[in-house]
Amino acid sequence: MKKFVLFVVSVLLVSLCLGCGSTKKEAAPAKKELIVGTEPAFAPFEFQKAGSSEFTGFDIELIQAMAKKMGYEKCTIRNMGFDALIPALEAKNIDVAIAGMTITEDRKKKVNFSKPYYKSGLSIVVDKNNTTIKDVKDLVGKKIAVQIGTTGAIEAAKIKDAVITSFNTNNEACLELKNKAVDAVIGDKPVEEYFLQQSGKNVYAKIVGKTLTSEDYGIATAKKNAALAKELDKALEALQKDGTYDTLYKKWFGTTAK
Ligand code: ARG
Repeated sequence: MKKFVLFVVSVLLVSLCLGCGSTKKEAAPAKKELIVGTEPAFAPFEFQKAGSSEFTGFDIELIQAMAKKMGYEKCTIRNMGFDALIPALEAKNIDVAIAGMTITEDRKKKVNFSKPYYKSGLSIVVDKNNTTIKDVKDLVGKKIAVQIGTTGAIEAAKIKDAVITSFNTNNEACLELKNKAVDAVIGDKPVEEYFLQQSGKNVYAKIVGKTLTSEDYGIATAKKNAALAKELDKALEALQKDGTYDTLYKKWFGTTAK
């Protein structure tokens, strides 16, 4: 009888312990690494820190804060061409893409977007001494530089008889304007503004005319990874509530969010 009681007690104890073990295993493991793709020649959203191989900017600091909120131990930034970002998501080489990427109907067919996180638009940049191009209608038949695969490239393609040259980065498109090889650049207004402001008195260009479009930036994830898109939205909302988003916005744009 004694032996039997002992046996029952030990069976109970062992099963209790196993129970403990299994509940521990069921708890969510810490997520290791979020791999983020971007095209980092797009200040103030993403660019290389001076004298360093690291990237910084509004997008970079935002996604780093979001990754932390989502419980990732590490947030790794991968540098690639802008037009390579969506294929990289589809190939699972990256988990998310943050690159001042406009939410468009066309892209929505291929990827999921987070809720909008920045209001943007396109503007026209010309040589500072140019007096003939004042608005989009003056671009008919002109030479225009754009960044490949961008909404700027799409908008430029709508202009009658325009000769369009595409570059890997917006910086290269602007360099073409500096070299007087093109008449204008069409690109994202906050990026062009930042670039003109950073050039100080060496500025060779100016923005003309009305803002051409109204665009929202979103963070892209693979179509198949709907769970991650949801998590990103939750993290973004949390950072908007706790003031982190506003702090970053103020830091990079000097104003409060539009
Ligand atoms: N907003 C534009 C677009 O989505 C340009 C984005 C370019 N971004 C970059 N990191 N180079 O097409």
